[in-house]
Amino acid sequence: MTFSLRALASLALASILVNFSTAASVVGPVQRRSSANVLGPVTDLEITNKVIAPDGFPRTAVLAGGTFPGPLIAAQKGDQFRINVINQLYNTSMNTTTSVHWHGIFQHKSNWADGTAFVTQCPIQPNGSFLHSFVVHKQAGTFWYHSHLSAQYCDGLRGPLVIYDPHDPYAYMYDVDDESTVIVLSDWYHVLSPQMYTGPFNPSSTLINGLGRYSNGPASPLAVVNVTQGKRYRFRLVGASCDPWFNFTIDGHPMTVIEADGNLVDPVVVDSIPVYAGQRYSVVVTANQTVGNYWIRALSNHPNQTFEGGQSSAIFRYEGAPDQDPTSQHGPYVLPFDESALHPLINPGSPGIPEPGKADININLIPGLRGGQAQYTINNVSFVDPPLPVLLQILSGAIHPSQLLPNGSVYILPFNKTVEISMPATDLSPGGALGGPHAVHLHGHSFDVVRVSGNGSYNYVNPVRRDTVSLGLQANNDNVTFRFVTDNPGPWFFHCHNDWHLHNGFAVIMAEAPLQAELQESEAAPSESSTHSNLPLQ
Ligand code: C2O
Repeated sequence: MTFSLRALASLALASILVNFSTAASVVGPVQRRSSANVLGPVTDLEITNKVIAPDGFPRTAVLAGGTFPGPLIAAQKGDQFRINVINQLYNTSMNTTTSVHWHGIFQHKSNWADGTAFVTQCPIQPNGSFLHSFVVHKQAGTFWYHSHLSAQYCDGLRGPLVIYDPHDPYAYMYDVDDESTVIVLSDWYHVLSPQMYTGPFNPSSTLINGLGRYSNGPASPLAVVNVTQGKRYRFRLVGASCDPWFNFTIDGHPMTVIEADGNLVDPVVVDSIPVYAGQRYSVVVTANQTVGNYWIRALSNHPNQTFEGGQSSAIFRYEGAPDQDPTSQHGPYVLPFDESALHPLINPGSPGIPEPGKADININLIPGLRGGQAQYTINNVSFVDPPLPVLLQILSGAIHPSQLLPNGSVYILPFNKTVEISMPATDLSPGGALGGPHAVHLHGHSFDVVRVSGNGSYNYVNPVRRDTVSLGLQANNDNVTFRFVTDNPGPWFFHCHNDWHLHNGFAVIMAEAPLQAELQESEAAPSESSTHSNLPLQ
């Protein structure tokens, strides 16, 4: 590798100085803490090892802020974030290095703060820290954060991040939108992630807001969502899954979808909603039923899932209802979710000539598999972590873009072009040997999904805009297609959001406008270039 260590060292040195000088002049919002488990945009986030038993089975975990899920990080539109991730991991039966990614945040001009190990930064070493300083200029909505190293978030490092909009155009639709209305859906494992890399990827239980039960386990407490009759709630669903997707329902209560992955959508009423790994939705629910207890359900797509004994469930409890388990029945379901019916509220329409394959740059990405579930590929290349983060390779200027590592996994995209990505579903049914349906996520962007799964037609007029999309099923001849404009220079990870599949190579890097990325970094204001001091020499 031709990278000059001297260049790296001088970058590191320069930024240590920069960081030093800006540290004293931090001007930003004061940290908000509306309750014990809510953090503001200016905060420390400690990553620790701890034994927890969210479904009644104790295991050691990797946690943000000591809880599962991690604390809600709550901010307002336009806020300056300064999140200092502090690595206090010591348990060597799991990864002791870490990195934290802010899923869905564009990181415009702050690619270095994206938190992706080996793409934008080196892993944070034990006892090290990394200060993520970034401004969320225009985004508001429901996001989340998670480890972006190996399959570490399966061991627990995942939590919600919400950016509230004081001028939300849908504010008139709901009465309550606070930490009590964030609903985090996740899988949970009794086996530590390093013992699971080669599969099978079988979760032990489904957790809702970090509580659940497993098959033949104890009657461990379930999450309770408290509501008052007559009020309207904006529930923010977070698909913080490592593997399965969940069919989310609330007995007796239809839901009005108003947001998909940080993008407001025209309201659509459904009575069930599939939430794939990485996806988020806001749904408005009116507490208009008889005072009582109702089941909230999140059924995983894995085989043999059940609500037996309170599995896959939480409790929707009206004020005045007894402290008891619900006896409500589910269904009938008559308002199915249809992704093609979601349309952006703001500025709908995909960029470029409205015909398949007629963008400036058209890329087919074909998923594949080698050796059981051990190695996923995209266009026959399995992603492996490069020896030096891609951003540093670009900044060094010493490497021609075509030589960026890992070889065959870096797609160079020129500045200010329309890109169309099309991906066939290759689940190799029956049995889903490839572990599909896969949900893929692009960092640094939302994209317009001009062809969604389960639908053969193209919509360039008002397609759903989101950052994580299901590829659907090969049996349906799905070929999910989406577009975005290369207006955000930097290397952005694009990968399956099944963390096991990502770990096993289901990823590429979109090196967006590498030249502009280099210029941008060198021009960045001091407070934005504190970055390099965070890049430990390995
Ligand atoms: Cu939610 Cu690359 O991640």
